[in-house]
Amino acid sequence: MMRYRVVVVGMGKRGMHHAAAFAANPRFELAGVCSRNPQRLDAATTKFAGVKTSTDARGLVMDVKPDVFCFCTPPDVRLPLVHAGIDSGATLIAFEKPVAMTTAEGLAIKDVLDRAGVRAVVSHQHRYGEHYMKVKEIIASGGVGQVESVYGTATGWAAHMLSHLVDYTCWFNDYEPAEWVMGQAAGRGKLTDVHASPDYVAGVVHFRNGVRGIYDCGAGAPDVPDVPYWWRKCRIGAKGTDGYAEVHTGGGWRAVTRQGSQSGPGGMDYELDTPAYVQDIAEWLDDDRQPHPARFDRAYHGMEIVSGLYRSVIEGGQIALPLTSGMDEIEGLKAKVPDRKVRVTLAESAKEYKE
Ligand SMILES: NC(=O)c1ccc[n+]([C@@H]2O[C@H](COP(=O)([O-])OP(=O)(O)OC[C@H]3O[C@@H](n4cnc5c(N)ncnc54)[C@H](O)[C@@H]3O)[C@@H](O)[C@H]2O)c1
Repeated sequence: MMRYRVVVVGMGKRGMHHAAAFAANPRFELAGVCSRNPQRLDAATTKFAGVKTSTDARGLVMDVKPDVFCFCTPPDVRLPLVHAGIDSGATLIAFEKPVAMTTAEGLAIKDVLDRAGVRAVVSHQHRYGEHYMKVKEIIASGGVGQVESVYGTATGWAAHMLSHLVDYTCWFNDYEPAEWVMGQAAGRGKLTDVHASPDYVAGVVHFRNGVRGIYDCGAGAPDVPDVPYWWRKCRIGAKGTDGYAEVHTGGGWRAVTRQGSQSGPGGMDYELDTPAYVQDIAEWLDDDRQPHPARFDRAYHGMEIVSGLYRSVIEGGQIALPLTSGMDEIEGLKAKVPDRKVRVTLAESAKEYKE
């Protein structure tokens, strides 16, 4: 069996998870790690002894020439690293969500990947949680009947959370293409965050098969009282003719089907989800007929939905997908989102959404 060489860039929380998962998997050799931050690089050097290190991502990847180039950098660091991965000859690029902060950059990333014929995956790895898989299984086996709507809510702000909500709801709807979206937004405080977002965004999506997507993300999103941890107060599910099934990111799942009501355990866990996500990278590299569940095309479609919601705020009305031209949606939101304090649902959200 081929052993794939990997470079991981960005030694923050997610870079360390990825590097550890690649290092622990016999199908991969962690060949290099990089961070701009020397202290974080030192910590990584101690943890991953014998691995090449550098503060210069491009220099390292051109030197090591890995099979897999993985980067886990803040959301505003994307396109130059995709170029570096392609120039190094990597056959797969793995990177963190969100795909991009603007469609200008997202379209450019898609274009260079398509032209180079390089595979890519984006880390929407929550789907590997047992509670996510259980909800998918109930929906796919017809437990909720004919799916009529899918929905996702999260109290955290959009650049952190919305691409997750969109990806897993699209999974529940078998990745049917979205035909149009319409949304609204409130609160300007997080527009200057590194995860730049309106404090609150909500909207609807029309999928080709008639299923309705409903998204509610940020300050105004509803509570998920069963989940104590604020970042994991996410409810993601599907409602059909016979019932519903939903996952709560930080605490289990529940469903009402023709058989009655059911619930079960599960909690988002990087230590369990990231190794499974990494293993599927090996499966795809081994066999092109086993594409990765978190492949770029799916995440890109999710980015179009998120960006479409933002464009609806900026331009008004329904936004048709796919998007055919790029723009800087964050600048557009800065010009358009009203200068009024956002209304928060949870008292504990007030410390995050204070402007
Ligand atoms: N999939 C998930 O569940 C999940 C969870 C948390 C964060 N994320 C995403 O992961 C990404 C990273 O988040 P994080 O929490 O690990 O961030 P972080 O700030 O902890 O780490 C980012 C690292 O990237 C390094 N870096 C930045 N620019 C660089 C460059 N040009 N070259 C080399 N290194 C560079 C920084 O020095 C830092 O070490 C974000 O996009 C975030 O949205 C995903």
